[in-house]
Amino acid sequence: MKGILLAGGAGTRMYPVSRIYSKQLTLIYDKPLIYYPLSILMLGGIKDVLIISNDETIPLYKKLFEDGKHLGMNISYTVQPAPNGIAQSFILGDKFIGNDSVTLMLGDNIFYGKLDFLYYALEHNEGATIFGYRVNDPERYGIVEFDENGNAISIEEKPNQPKSNFAVPGLYVYNNEVVEISKNLKPSPRGELEITDVNVEYLKRKKLKVEKIGRGVAWLDTGTPVSLLQASNFFGVIEDRQGQKVACIEEIAYHMGFIDFARFEKVIAAMPKSDYRNYLERVIKEL
Ligand code: G1P
Repeated sequence: MKGILLAGGAGTRMYPVSRIYSKQLTLIYDKPLIYYPLSILMLGGIKDVLIISNDETIPLYKKLFEDGKHLGMNISYTVQPAPNGIAQSFILGDKFIGNDSVTLMLGDNIFYGKLDFLYYALEHNEGATIFGYRVNDPERYGIVEFDENGNAISIEEKPNQPKSNFAVPGLYVYNNEVVEISKNLKPSPRGELEITDVNVEYLKRKKLKVEKIGRGVAWLDTGTPVSLLQASNFFGVIEDRQGQKVACIEEIAYHMGFIDFARFEKVIAAMPKSDYRNYLERVIKEL
């Protein structure tokens, strides 16, 4: 299973900072936003990750994660020349995906809680598995409608009159058909290759599973300054209470068995003095 982390988009809702800065590098409490979705892929056991972003931001991600070896991963990078839509990821990532399946995670999506829904999908996916999460503001998302037996019957991108309150979060598990499907897509009226059109095609082929995620899992949105502040507060409260960090990628790399104890020690020793390093020194002492 390959992983793609799409950290693109114009981010104009974050204006004026969007003129100079990518949203996914914004601090969510104590670490950049992109750490949170990367950690979800890692917790899914995915070691081969392609990060896609614009040409200005790719060098910054490279600085942040390098080739991923210190995390026991292979992290590579591809430029998306213009924000032409989420589904373009599979065209840009064609070679990277090869004959494999692929999980796509959007760089501004955050999950917190038990990830059983993801583990199940990664193990059992045949065509496509996407998720449904109840939200208050469905007109902002891809929306899935279910029949009385819980089967998905329609998916619409940002409908004016949503047929349900179930939004499709930015985490998608696909078999290899996704590459061919994406290559045959036509741009939507807003000029983008829509991920919703990919999912509609799987639905037509009767190869789409939509699993509901329960309320015990938090799916946080980070599209606006207010939602970023809310996410920071959310993780600030949890980390402060537990004395444990969420989305600490080095700690996850160790716990997932991507790196051994000696490598973990080395990675920590290379960090400058900081709360982040102090935290990891405590973690390794407590092992
Ligand atoms: C994208 C997708 C949408 C999905 C959302 C999740 O929207 O197009 O279907 O529900 O991500 O975050 P965007 O927020 O990129 O416009």
